[in-house]
Amino acid sequence: MPKIAYLECSRCHARLSADTPQTVCTLCPDQPAGSLFVRYDLSHLAGTRPDEVIGRDVAGPWSGMWRYRSVLPEVDPVTLGEGWTPMLRSKRHAGAFVKEEGANPTGTFKARGLAMAVTMARHYGLRKLAVPSAGNAAGALAAYAAAAGIEAHIFMPRDVPFANYVEATAYGAHVELVNGLISDCARMVNERKEREGWFDISSLKEPFRVEGKKTMGYELVEQLGWEYPDAVFYPTGGGVGLIGMWKAFEELEQLGWVKPGRRPKMIAVQSTGCAPVARAFDEGAKASSMWQNAATFASGLRVPKPYGDALILDIVRASEGLALAVSDEEILRSLLDWARNEGIFFSPEGASVTAAYDRLLADGFLKPSDRVVLFNTGAGLKYIDVIAEAMKLTRPNDAGQN
Ligand SMILES: Cc1ncc(COP(=O)(O)O)c(C=O)c1O
Ligand SMILES: [Zn+2]
Repeated sequence: MPKIAYLECSRCHARLSADTPQTVCTLCPDQPAGSLFVRYDLSHLAGTRPDEVIGRDVAGPWSGMWRYRSVLPEVDPVTLGEGWTPMLRSKRHAGAFVKEEGANPTGTFKARGLAMAVTMARHYGLRKLAVPSAGNAAGALAAYAAAAGIEAHIFMPRDVPFANYVEATAYGAHVELVNGLISDCARMVNERKEREGWFDISSLKEPFRVEGKKTMGYELVEQLGWEYPDAVFYPTGGGVGLIGMWKAFEELEQLGWVKPGRRPKMIAVQSTGCAPVARAFDEGAKASSMWQNAATFASGLRVPKPYGDALILDIVRASEGLALAVSDEEILRSLLDWARNEGIFFSPEGASVTAAYDRLLADGFLKPSDRVVLFNTGAGLKYIDVIAEAMKLTRPNDAGQN
């Protein structure tokens, strides 16, 4: 495992030390301060082939995403088996693969970022972590904090999927349900963190959730034979996974581990009920503006103003990709289509991606033969109450009536 050389500000490129816990850049000339990215000296890996370095010793703590420990911080992992999720081939679409992140502990890709962030929190000796969450990050934090013996303080909207409330409570986290959105939760964490001695691990306000999620980029390239696909579809709330994957592509190229080719088009998918990034993309804006009255049953996409909006937009544009929004009706239709015809139970967030894929095939932006990776970021099973309501499904009584 490499030592961290420094943390680099994504805006002003200042270098900060990783010897003590850091949040966002303290040297940015103006607000919002830039997120910090972890930089390593990887020169000892120059000229290596990935199969010489990756996956030789994947037993014990080095299974899952920790197979990439040669490009992760030098630490003792807090792990529950996250990462190395299946890459499923679509039965119906020749070029389409589904990255099944529902197979992670706590049923979503949030496990990767929180495993890494909690690992580093334990490494730094932090005792109390706080997070505002749309739901799944809360569940993942609760699990990893329990595994590490650290306190978790969670703020999430009152109407999150019930599974998020139940899991966070079962793992013993301090849970506060908030009458509002993730932005209101973030404000509450901000107001109280100093007094309470909490370390804030909000998306992109500390460097290590991105570092965990970057393993999705390594994994998809490895699972496709160290080659890029033509496009990656990602359901975008805070955008951490998309930013993390782009960082992985940069590193893979620096290491010479990916066959030369064009980077994938990054397709950021949102719901028409909360689409700040898609709107900013359409308007040619550099950053998003606050989305009013955000409402969608894809609860992970209810982020009215992502902290990393400028980074997401830069990446989508640099990749010649798109940011677009689909309606909740399209999401539900696509969720049922993939469940019935492919046997894959997408989360609503994941089904936003399949709906967007259908649209981009129909309008010719993509061809059926293009290789695409569709991220199912969470298991449909975490959304039983939400999906049942959208399907107007209730438990039949013993006379068989709803
Ligand atoms: C299942 C699911 N998909 C996607 C997202 C959005 O993730 P990101 O914040 O990385 O954009 C979330 C966030 O809560 C989520 O829970
Ligand atoms: Zn800065």
